Amino acid sequence: MDVAEAIKIRKSVRKFKSDPVPKAIIKELLDISVRSPSANNTQPWGFTIITGDILEKIRKENVENLRNGQLPSKEMERLLVVRPKGSVYRKRQVEIAKQLFRLMEIPREDKEKRTEWMERGFRYFDAPCVIIITADKWLPLPGTFFDNGCLAQTICLAALSFGLHTCIENQGVTYAEVLRKHASISDDKQIITAIAIGYPDWDFPANKVESTREPIDNIAEWVGF
Ligand SMILES: Cc1cc2nc3c(=O)[nH]c(=O)nc-3n(C[C@H](O)[C@H](O)[C@H](O)COP(=O)(O)O)c2cc1C
Repeated sequence: MDVAEAIKIRKSVRKFKSDPVPKAIIKELLDISVRSPSANNTQPWGFTIITGDILEKIRKENVENLRNGQLPSKEMERLLVVRPKGSVYRKRQVEIAKQLFRLMEIPREDKEKRTEWMERGFRYFDAPCVIIITADKWLPLPGTFFDNGCLAQTICLAALSFGLHTCIENQGVTYAEVLRKHASISDDKQIITAIAIGYPDWDFPANKVESTREPIDNIAEWVGF
């Protein structure tokens, strides 16, 4: 697949078939993905790949925490970003949420359905496999985050060559202690993000989402042309 084609095809998938993803495929995918660039080739990353019963336990406990109104783990407070009302960022956030709710036929006032939708995220959209990206805890977050952002996108693109689709997920790392407990992620690692991965269920309405982008003319300053 042509790279530009892959970039255009990639989208966040929010429902997967139950078919398992063989370990050998994930291994090959990660072998390719770590070709991703990093500052000074420091490669500040590590992986915990979860499937099967342990993933089921994590899904269950995530959802229980959500239902109990549990706040994100202290170490994940960075996820509590508020985009000010009226800002373009809030506008884009609302736009994608509206599109997803429209596709899922969830009316704005239907709290039960909205909660049900939210729970799907905390269940990793029923993906058969989840890749947790970690980094040594003592590494400073900003640079580490940038390198891992490059890596996450590389994983999502490379996955397409195996017929696999993905969703990068903050929701999936909200309850870091659940991941640490069940997947034995040690305290000397910081949890960067989760990538839900599997074979897509294209019949699922939310997978028809078409996220939009700001036209380049609105965001680029051309200098010296
Ligand atoms: C760091 C990061 C965290 C994300 N967390 C979530 C999440 O928790 N739940 C979710 O449904 N999508 C999540 N997404 C997916 C974004 O909503 C998605 O990338 C965006 O709407 C653009 O859509 P696209 O990926 O289909 O192009 C996340 C994406 C990124 C990069």
